[in-house]
Amino acid sequence: MFPIPLQRDFSLRSLNTFGIEAQARAYLPVAGADILLAVKNSPELAALPRLILGGGSNLLLTQDFPGLVLHMRSTGMTVIDSDEDTVHVRAAAGESWHGLVMWTLAQGLGGLENLALIPGSVGAAPIQNIGAYGVELKDRFHSLTAFDFISGEMLTLDRATCRFGYRDSIFKHALRDRAVVLDVTFALPKKWQANMHYADVMQELSQRQITAPSPQDIAAAVIAIRTRKLPDPAQIGNAGSFFKNPIVSAAQRDSLLAQYPQLVSYVQPDGGYKLAAGWLIDQCGWKGRSLGAAGVYEKQALVLVNKGGATGKEIAALAQAIQADVQERFGVRLEPEPVFI
Ligand code: EPU
Repeated sequence: MFPIPLQRDFSLRSLNTFGIEAQARAYLPVAGADILLAVKNSPELAALPRLILGGGSNLLLTQDFPGLVLHMRSTGMTVIDSDEDTVHVRAAAGESWHGLVMWTLAQGLGGLENLALIPGSVGAAPIQNIGAYGVELKDRFHSLTAFDFISGEMLTLDRATCRFGYRDSIFKHALRDRAVVLDVTFALPKKWQANMHYADVMQELSQRQITAPSPQDIAAAVIAIRTRKLPDPAQIGNAGSFFKNPIVSAAQRDSLLAQYPQLVSYVQPDGGYKLAAGWLIDQCGWKGRSLGAAGVYEKQALVLVNKGGATGKEIAALAQAIQADVQERFGVRLEPEPVFI
């Protein structure tokens, strides 16, 4: 039988960017599909609840995990082919997302620069269709390979099949707890065009007196903005934006705008409006406040932080208190972005 390097009662503290202590009943590093097949074929392991772990940057551990953590550790990034318009790049699930962005830029390939410095792994990126500064993963996505825990076979999924939405995909719905992403293929444009519509990026570039930016210039601007606004998980535990920006009807947005002329909202293709959750939370006075060791980051109200030794339950209690205030004041429900265990 395939040797399975299983570890029991494994601490997940260093594997989640909140830095929260919790134990997994069992833990396996995964370098490729063969080990997933071995898990599927083991009656003992296949019966356990599974948690697929990438960079642990979208995870809130509120308790020990009573199952098997599969930690994606596969590596490799390659240019696989190119045609007149597009270069295809494939990266293994265990690669760091930011590492991939910087590697593509070093190869002279633009397209991922607006997504620089997002924490997490390549394999996790499609699950929530990561996005920042006017670009989402789906805009550069070609296809992915995944292991199917039901059939034991490999699936190849194209963009339409992945059903990408705002921080959403098929992996949060029909393929939840079923598909494990093994590698992702990106389609990068040969005729690169800067995407600097986002006000913060435009402002940063103009401060740097850059009018015709290269992909590297945009990456440098995005890195500077993120470093200023968002806490570095290596310094202070966090999972990026803790809530999604809520989408409301035009009627609800209009009535809120009449009451709050400063409301930050963005029109959506379907006529609805995305509201800035950070603004809503800020207005409720939460920015910089804490409940125990769980806090709201002082420079960006959408980010919850572990001020040192916080438990997942403390972070969850803070999140609930914020949700209740935003609901009461604005009638808007905030939905958390991270996966709760
Ligand atoms: N705002 C406030 N107070 C705050 C925070 C924000 O008033 O404390 C206002 C800002 O002034 C701005 C608006 O809210 O007018 C939006 O803020 P920002 O541009 O910082 O972006 P965001 O909506 O808070 C989203 C993503 C980020 C992504 C940035 C840039 C979500 C949930 N978050 O944040 O993604 O980096 O846009 O594109 O969509 C993440 O998902 O983990 C993440 C960091």
